[in-house]
This record gives sequence, C-alpha cells and structure tokens, in this order.
Amino acid sequence: MSTLTTGGRVRSLVSRIVVRENGLESRLSGSLELVEKRLAECAGRAADPRVADVVGYLVAAGGKRLRPLLTLVAAEFGDPWAPGVIDAAVVAELTHAASLYHDDVMDQARIRHGVPSVNARWGNSVAVMAGNWLLAMAAQLSADLVRPALPLHAEASERLVRGQLLELVGPTANDGPLPHYFAVISHKTAALLSLSLKLGALQSGASGAVGDALAQYGEHLGVAFQISDDLLDITSSSALTGKEQGKDLSVGVAGLPALLALAGDDPRDGELRALLRSPLGVTGEDHRRALRLLRRSAALGEARAIRDQRLTMARSALRRLPAGPPRRALDTLCDVVATRTK
Ligand code: FPP
Ligand code: MG
Repeated sequence: MSTLTTGGRVRSLVSRIVVRENGLESRLSGSLELVEKRLAECAGRAADPRVADVVGYLVAAGGKRLRPLLTLVAAEFGDPWAPGVIDAAVVAELTHAASLYHDDVMDQARIRHGVPSVNARWGNSVAVMAGNWLLAMAAQLSADLVRPALPLHAEASERLVRGQLLELVGPTANDGPLPHYFAVISHKTAALLSLSLKLGALQSGASGAVGDALAQYGEHLGVAFQISDDLLDITSSSALTGKEQGKDLSVGVAGLPALLALAGDDPRDGELRALLRSPLGVTGEDHRRALRLLRRSAALGEARAIRDQRLTMARSALRRLPAGPPRRALDTLCDVVATRTK
C-alpha cells in the first residue's frame, strides 16, 4: 500500500475525533504512521516472501485502524512516548486482522476492505493458518510489553474465540436469542476494543483507575460498534463498507435488527418475520426482499436506540477520566460510531 493511502486513512479517523487539538492530532497521526511501519515490518518477519504476502495482505488492504487509535489515545493518559505504546497498538491491529482472516472463512466472505478476501484468494486452509500466524505474532510482541500485557492479550483472544463459538452454537433454551446476542458481541467485538485501551493505558504508566475506566468504556463502545456493524450490513453499500451487503442474513447469522424483528410483534414487520423464519434460509429474491423490509422495519429504529444507549453508557464511563483532549476525543468517537457509514 502506498504511504499516501495509509496517511489518508489514518488522518481521516484522527481528524474526526480530534477537533482543534493540534498537538494531539499531530501526535496521534505521527504515532499511527509508526504503527503502519511496524505492521509492515511484522509481516516481513515471515521469512518466505509468499507467506509474508499472505500475512501482510489484509492489513495492507485497508481498515480504519480503530483499535491502534484507541491504544494511542489511551496512552495519552500517561506517557504517550513510553516504550511499548506503538507495539501495543500493533498487537491490537494484528489480533483484529487474525480474527478477520478466520471470520471470513467462517462467513465464506468473498470481499474484505474492498479487495478479495484471503480465503477467496488463497483458500480456507491458507487463510486459517495465516490468521494463526498473525495471532502468534501478536502474542510474541505482547510478551515484550509491560506486564500483564501477555495474560490480558490471552484473555481477550479467548473471549474473541468464545464469542465466535457461542455464535456458532446458538442460544440455549435458558438464554433467549437477545441475551445470547449480547454475550456474543461482548466477547467477539468488545473484548478487543477494551484490550486495545487497556494496553495503551498500561504501557503509558497511567493509573489502574484510568485503565479500569477505559476498559469499561471499551466494553460499551465495542457493543455499540458491533450493533452499528449489524446496521451497516443492512443500510450501507458494499462500495462503502468494502464487504458484501446483507452477508449476515445470507449465512444465517441474525444481526440485532433481525433478532428484534423476530422477537417483536409490530404488525409492520409481519412479512419480514415470515421471511426470516423460512426453514430454507434467506436467499435469492427472499434475501433482497428481507433486506428491503429490514431497512424500513420498526426493528431498525429499535436497534439504533439500543446502540445509542450503549454509547451513553460509554460516555458515562469517560466521566471517571481526567478531563482534557484525550477524553474529548473518546467522547467524539461515540458520535462517530453513531453516525458511521462504513
Ligand atoms: C467480525 O464479525 C469478526 C469478529 C468481530 C471476531 C471474529 C473472531 C474470530 C473468528 C475468533 C478467532 C479469533 C482470533 C483472534 C484468531 P462480523 O462477521 O459480525 O463482522 P463483519 O461484517 O466485519 O464480517
Ligand atoms: Mg463476518
């Protein structure tokens, strides 16, 4: 990827969350550039150039770099120049990339970040092994960070896998579909956002109380972020998200809007419920129709309201942090999640 593309992407999220705080904006942008260099260098550690190509592919293809940005903003509550801050951000992105390699195999996704997915290009076996390599590389870097970075990373990795396994096995008779959904997304998405913040706080020497507040913020932000992802799967275009539209439905994974439609009794969602309950799955014309109905369902508005409640909870966790530009940036990030289109 060209430096220009990298710089453009990095600047776009930073400039959205840091307004009129020039020192912070340039520090975050500069650190994100170092993260990019380190990410590329990590892929290069795979001695065989063909392996380096695969393990570096998705990170080079794009992404918002939300997790490294969280690490860097968290480090602003201590010493942002402390050794280990950049590598902590790299750990967060490598772990995220590893999870996408595996997720795209599981979802049979053909596109990610606007390019053919790793599984589409190299097949499932290579994609799974390359994901394992990235996770191992993240663990290797964690081992050199301020303790207890490695156990925190192990714990978050376990939660990611647990979330994905829970999604596969589905709800039990005791936990209904909605509590099950929230358990899944808390593990598969919020755990890594929370870890990204915790690692930044830890490396920078910020206090334990600051680390705890940031972790709490990350848990709520992560849940809201995954709900917004579910919403975008229905409302946004493939050109914007770089993924296939309506993928959740087509692989039988119900996002929050579909779950709320199924659980509700709003007469406007009657036809939608019938389509979602189809024993043959939601494919072909049914898929197009279900997406259209979901876009104007009452459930869509309910899902947005739940996302916004979680963002309110995230903002209230921020009140436990010292006021200033980094706290304002994290607050503004809640607005970005509420209004994201990709
Ligand atoms: C995207 O979800 C995927 C995740 C948030 C996590 C996936 C986790 C695993 C595959 C477990 C393995 C983890 C590691 C660290 C190797 P999504 O499918 O809802 O979103 P999408 O639309 O971006 O695909
Ligand atoms: Mg997926």
